[in-house]
Amino acid sequence: MALERLDKILASQNIGSRKEVGLMIRKGRVTVNGAVATRPELKADAEQDAIAVEGRELAGSRFIYLMMNKPKGVLSASRDTRAETVVDLVPQEWRRRGLFPAGRLDKDTEGLLILTNDGDFAHKMLSPKKKVEKIYDAVLDLPIDSQDILAFSVGVKMKDFEALPAKLSVLPPELADAKLTPLQRQVRVCIHEGKFHQVKRMFMARGKTVLALRRVQIGSLKLDPNLSPGEVRQMAAKEILAVFT
Ligand code: URA
Repeated sequence: MALERLDKILASQNIGSRKEVGLMIRKGRVTVNGAVATRPELKADAEQDAIAVEGRELAGSRFIYLMMNKPKGVLSASRDTRAETVVDLVPQEWRRRGLFPAGRLDKDTEGLLILTNDGDFAHKMLSPKKKVEKIYDAVLDLPIDSQDILAFSVGVKMKDFEALPAKLSVLPPELADAKLTPLQRQVRVCIHEGKFHQVKRMFMARGKTVLALRRVQIGSLKLDPNLSPGEVRQMAAKEILAVFT
């Protein structure tokens, strides 16, 4: 790819408007190959140079970050000899780049999944120390009550572990499916950890069964409503940063 102005490269990756990225560059928040670049007119090659905003490299160079709306029935794995995996759903042009899902969703869970080849990113996203919030919408067999909300807020106790405090609420009516009654069976859960079957087990400990589960947000990154189940698209650098903000 040809050399282009740094502000143009950043704006084309949706980091901000040309004016906003110009300001970010002048403030020293952008590096090119490890050196702070303070001139928006500096020329760089988006594919060859390591361009980073606040330490995070832009998508499209060495690392790749994809957002998927994971459908039900597909395994969160790179390869499986028998079952279809999330990597099998990735278009050919990106598939041969060592992709793996950053964190797993159960086979019957749908929604926001990030696929990447950046091990540090995945590690940081999953580390309990980083406290990255994961938000799930669930449909339950029974309505929740104030005792459930309280139990989640102090940390649900299970046989083998005690969950960190979590937020449980009834889904706002505008997001709920009016055909499913009562509405108190449609809930939203925010957790900061990701143990095996965590959300299902937390509800199980409260005597309720999760009938459907969908991840809608990681950090402040929301699932793109334009992505149909099974669809995948490259993430903008701004979205990669949003995972940690
Ligand atoms: N919690 C679960 O129980 N399942 C998932 O897929 C994700 C979180």
